[in-house]
Amino acid sequence: MSPHSELESAIADVIFLGNERKIPLRGLASLTQATPNQAKRALDELKKLGYPLRLSRAGIVERLPFRPIDVQKLKAELTTERIGRRIEWRLHVNSTQDELKRLEDEAEDGTVLLAETQRAGRGRLSRSWFSPTGGIWMSILLKPTWPTSHQILILALAAAVARVVGNMTKLPSVLKWPNDLMVRSRKVAGFLAEAAYQGNQLDRLIVGLGVNVNIEMTRLPEGLRGLSTSLSHELGRDIDRTMLARRIVEEVDRSYRDFELGRASELLDDIKRLCSTLGKEVEVRTADGAFKGEALDVGRDGQLIVRMPDGAILPFHTADVTHVRQL
Ligand code: BTN
Repeated sequence: MSPHSELESAIADVIFLGNERKIPLRGLASLTQATPNQAKRALDELKKLGYPLRLSRAGIVERLPFRPIDVQKLKAELTTERIGRRIEWRLHVNSTQDELKRLEDEAEDGTVLLAETQRAGRGRLSRSWFSPTGGIWMSILLKPTWPTSHQILILALAAAVARVVGNMTKLPSVLKWPNDLMVRSRKVAGFLAEAAYQGNQLDRLIVGLGVNVNIEMTRLPEGLRGLSTSLSHELGRDIDRTMLARRIVEEVDRSYRDFELGRASELLDDIKRLCSTLGKEVEVRTADGAFKGEALDVGRDGQLIVRMPDGAILPFHTADVTHVRQL
């Protein structure tokens, strides 16, 4: 972690987890071993992430009402077998993926780590993932016992989240291959799988999922507006993040058990039912170039199967896809 993010985290902890609602900037700086200027810069970063705080002219930092995910309630109400038997919560981290990686040796299969904000959230294909207050930023540690490829599992977990979002909000939630969750053609959630191998054997899998829940569009970086959305924006009201997180963990647990029980073909049927990419003309961008064709199917390993204009049928395992039009 960089010193900047450590300072931001330390300052966020003092303001939002401490007993005092107000604290002088100088006091905050000395508590966190920073200069007042460094502390002020950190406050500015936290504000950009949506933390409700005010710095008065007199140099007093004030915490405004803030409602984090209620992790005690989440734990108390959870009824899962594997996922979420241990749940860790943090306020501000670099990335929940890295934070969970720190625990991976001692933590059991299914451990979940949630954070209110991420300073350097990661997306697929080395992109960054903007993670302000109001989202669900979650990583799940899996210690695999299965011998097969895990691509279907990730798609199945994305499908599980799509079902929860659809049921809880009644918004039309679909999957854009490989694993973007879309509402009205805009991205509302994304999934990231980071695997570690021992030789050829898959040893650890950390699955990250990010859901834009209660986030105002004006908070999103300009480049993301038009491409991304949030559930609160689509619904016109905020939703209970604690309940949504609980339902996600429960549905992910169900799909994980189905996967372990070898029910990959049922999971695949569900994925195909939710996958809005199928039947569309798509542009697929890979390291070898861009291809246009018709998305026909999702294969048994989660690959997208595309018919090229010359009739050739190609499978794509990792790629970025744009929907060109409905066929
Ligand atoms: C994508 O669509 O590109 C994947 C986005 C994954 C974001 C989540 S948020 C929680 C976890 N921690 C991260 O740094 N990334 C994932």
